[in-house]
Amino acid sequence: MGQNEVLFERAQKTIPGGVNSPVRAFRQVGGVPRFVSRAKGPYFWDAEDKRYIDLIMSWGPMIVGHAHPEVVEAVQRAAETSFSYGAPTKGEIELAERICELMPSIEQVRMVSSGTEATMSALRLARGYTGRDLIIKFEGCYHGHADSLLVKAGSGLLTFADSTQNAPSSGGVPQDVVKHTLVLPYNDVAAIEEVFQRQGDQIAAVIIEPIAGNMNLIQPSPEFLSAIRHLTSKHGSVLIYDEVMTGFRVALGGAQSLQGITPDLTCLGKVMGGGMPMAAFGGKKDIMSKLAPLGNVYQAGTLSGNPVAVASGLKTLEIVSRPGFYECLSGQTEKLMAGLKQAADEAKIPFAVDSVGGMFGFYFADQVPTSFEAVTQTNIEAFKKFFHAMLDEGVYLAPSAYEAGFTSIAHDNEVLNVIIAAAGTSFKKL
Ligand SMILES: Cc1ncc(COP(=O)(O)O)c(C=O)c1O
Repeated sequence: MGQNEVLFERAQKTIPGGVNSPVRAFRQVGGVPRFVSRAKGPYFWDAEDKRYIDLIMSWGPMIVGHAHPEVVEAVQRAAETSFSYGAPTKGEIELAERICELMPSIEQVRMVSSGTEATMSALRLARGYTGRDLIIKFEGCYHGHADSLLVKAGSGLLTFADSTQNAPSSGGVPQDVVKHTLVLPYNDVAAIEEVFQRQGDQIAAVIIEPIAGNMNLIQPSPEFLSAIRHLTSKHGSVLIYDEVMTGFRVALGGAQSLQGITPDLTCLGKVMGGGMPMAAFGGKKDIMSKLAPLGNVYQAGTLSGNPVAVASGLKTLEIVSRPGFYECLSGQTEKLMAGLKQAADEAKIPFAVDSVGGMFGFYFADQVPTSFEAVTQTNIEAFKKFFHAMLDEGVYLAPSAYEAGFTSIAHDNEVLNVIIAAAGTSFKKL
């Protein structure tokens, strides 16, 4: 028995399913999860010391590559002066100021420790601000695991749950909670217009992944985004951009900078902590000022604004802000996708690709899908075989066809060529 298998058996005795987050368990693709022992740049090594090229990069955060020496140094320096104080620090102000500079829609920002906390708190704030209960989310979008958001959710929910319209996608979520969540199809302008016409004065917030990455990668149409912005403004609802995945990943200013949309609130996570537990939500001052201690919407956290995570986040944002960072990252990601597409074409496999910045999607289908429904119709069996063939070749893809992939600045031409050659071999095995 290999070391990964030994660890997986051992893990399952004390950790449900052997993992601390469901998609890591390889349930969709089958097989034994790789237990990571270390990582550097674009690579990680498993328990058997086999090296893989990493194409999930911790599901997004590691945009400057694993164990970047400057980030490691910043974290070490911060750690020497203790890990947590439960009192404010100068670093938090610097990080808040930097976020506000990079995303001008954010006038004030509150730090939390996970994307789930960010979206959950942003929704509470939107409800407190508007005095309304209803929220709108879109099919296949994942916003973390708060009760009210576990309806037709993407990511692991899409992989494991039997999602039915407006029923919770998870056990333990009361129908009474999700009755306040309206779920609409992504990219469907008529559906959102109809709901606002009917119930616009009851809608507290619309929450959206502005580039969806939890049902594979799905881009919104400009008409869809402008309809959402227009309707939320007209009806006094709060537009929440969940940029936990896209923030500082698709562009320095996030998806909102590419789309020319100014949301009322934005949720951030992943890249902003450079791999440390760190996330945030922020936006218009008049909304943010409803938060405790100024206002009556309660939100708090023992480890919020943690100094070690702040140091990691500040250094990561410094590196991504250097000239040419996103041009290089986008160029490399496009090159990778073009290489995969060419390899699939040569093997005569129906295959489509898409990417934005350092985030990508590939689909066993003739065309890039534009909805949750279309993603579910792609060839999942082909994906599973491809996943395992690539794993054998030393390339680690997301172990689910319903997840986007992620590159880093450390994925240089040499690395891309290895991935593309591995894909050539793998497509031939399908
Ligand atoms: C768009 C989006 N929002 C929220 C979350 C939840 O973040 P976390 O896993 O840090 O709780 C995720 C996680 O993948 C995400 O992709």
